[in-house]
Amino acid sequence: MQLFHTIQDIRQYVADKRAAGRRIGFVPTMGYLHAGHLSLVERGKREADIVIMSIFVNPLQFGPNEDLDQYPRDLERDLQLAETVGVDAVFAPSVREMYPHQQLTFINTELLTDNLCGASRPGHFRGVTTVVGKLFNIVQPDKAFFGQKDAQQVRVIQQMVADLNMPVAVIGCPIVREADGLAMSSRNVYLSPEERRQALILNQSLTEAQKLFEQGERSADVLTDYVSRRIQLAPFAKIDYVKLVDLQTLSDIREISGESLLAVAVRFGGTRLIDNIVLQP
Ligand code: PAF
Repeated sequence: MQLFHTIQDIRQYVADKRAAGRRIGFVPTMGYLHAGHLSLVERGKREADIVIMSIFVNPLQFGPNEDLDQYPRDLERDLQLAETVGVDAVFAPSVREMYPHQQLTFINTELLTDNLCGASRPGHFRGVTTVVGKLFNIVQPDKAFFGQKDAQQVRVIQQMVADLNMPVAVIGCPIVREADGLAMSSRNVYLSPEERRQALILNQSLTEAQKLFEQGERSADVLTDYVSRRIQLAPFAKIDYVKLVDLQTLSDIREISGESLLAVAVRFGGTRLIDNIVLQP
């Protein structure tokens, strides 16, 4: 596995692979890898010849009161994990390499970023689309793999790629969960043992709502009220949102008639966790 810190070096690597006819798969991450990231690499290995992973904690997508400084980082550990699943090259640039001067150009996807996490984290998706656009320009992948836990992020990046004619297929991959159902997230390390225990309510309440849906329930109010009430039983939980949205538009719906996303964001202490489930009638 090769490690690159500069744009020039990763570009040269990509140019050589492309000249040899290799299809490039790309897994963008902010590091502190877990099994969810590794599953994206495994998918990439199946669908491309070369898998490049980026590890970059992108300051642009963190708000002023968010956890940029505390965000867990451990490049040595990440490199070892990446190697175990067969990543071919890691691109781990510095902030100065990615943002050498004041960034004056941004990618902003409208409407899809108004609801859900976009409403609670102003500017977050502008930071995500801008850095992912830059990374796509640098790595020039054929396919890029993202976790469906960040369902809004997947949808927004798919829209960006379509709107800006970027020649990359954006592939959303299933959520990977701990044995007890907690969705894998680099932020899970922040949770105290008690917070972590209570956080299981996210997956449990979504799974129960899915059962209601399978029994015929279609009302957004009924499903979101059910999930909210279940989550509120966890004393440490502070709900940011519980929403049922159309999977394409990400706008609120009253009744499920097409593919829909039941999504939650909940704080446990200082840690904001998200989870979701797709409901397909
Ligand atoms: O999902 C993430 O880890 C980040 O938002 C991403 C896509 C790597 C952009 O910084």
